Amino acid sequence: MKADVNHILARIEELPSFAESVRKIIDLFNKGEVDVKNLEQILAQDAGISTQVLRIANSSFFGFGGQINSIKDACMILGLPNVYNLVTAAAILDRFPGEENSIINYNNYWLHSMAVAIATKVIMDKANKRSDSAFLSGLIHDIGKLILDMYFKDEYLKIIQYQKNHQCPMVDAEKSVMNIDHAELGAMLLESWKFPKEIVSITKNHHKLNLEHNLDVSCSLHLANILVKGLSIGDSDGNHITNISPKVLSHLELNWDDLLSLLPDIEKQVKDNEIFH
Ligand SMILES: [Fe+2]
Repeated sequence: MKADVNHILARIEELPSFAESVRKIIDLFNKGEVDVKNLEQILAQDAGISTQVLRIANSSFFGFGGQINSIKDACMILGLPNVYNLVTAAAILDRFPGEENSIINYNNYWLHSMAVAIATKVIMDKANKRSDSAFLSGLIHDIGKLILDMYFKDEYLKIIQYQKNHQCPMVDAEKSVMNIDHAELGAMLLESWKFPKEIVSITKNHHKLNLEHNLDVSCSLHLANILVKGLSIGDSDGNHITNISPKVLSHLELNWDDLLSLLPDIEKQVKDNEIFH
């Protein structure tokens, strides 16, 4: 019997959100009231999040290794939207530490997610596109899987069994067992945590491109996910590869050879990146 989506939604809405500091920052950002001073003040109360933010800010992803020593530096060098993305990324890493009885291997999960974040940016650079959402979108695109792992374990085990029996993509197994897939589940959670609409939409559409917001990031992330699975970096659904929609390549004005030429750079950047080591 399939799970009731309304019941799932009700459970998601009950989940504990972030620390007060992060909730305040999301709130200020949504209202357009965030500035360097209030970010510094709020993060001064939360050493854990601040440390994680500085760690990610100094990773090779942003290319300023070792130069960012304070939240103020991060705001000045990376800009407020990027610092907002780092705060929420740090909060999510903090919020989903993994448990002893986890079904997912968290190291492989975060390695896959970080690699997708990096590959999304590499593809966008090649296509001459820019967006501050690339990093956060890549990092959290599969967050629905962590919800399955932490809060719907019985259903998740059934999904894995279904996928093995039918040899189908994981999203199809999720739909068959739960009536909802991890992309929709992740988007529901991010929406209830008041994340920007753009990030919610990109998360929701990372497998099927029914796009409302930021086609550039969505298309790049869709390709990044496939390339990273092809490179077997980390693990996501046993790195089952899905087809690339021709629409995606034509939107970015890229071809297969362009994508293949990016693989060594993606592999190198993932290796150099120490966020999750
Ligand atoms: Fe996914």
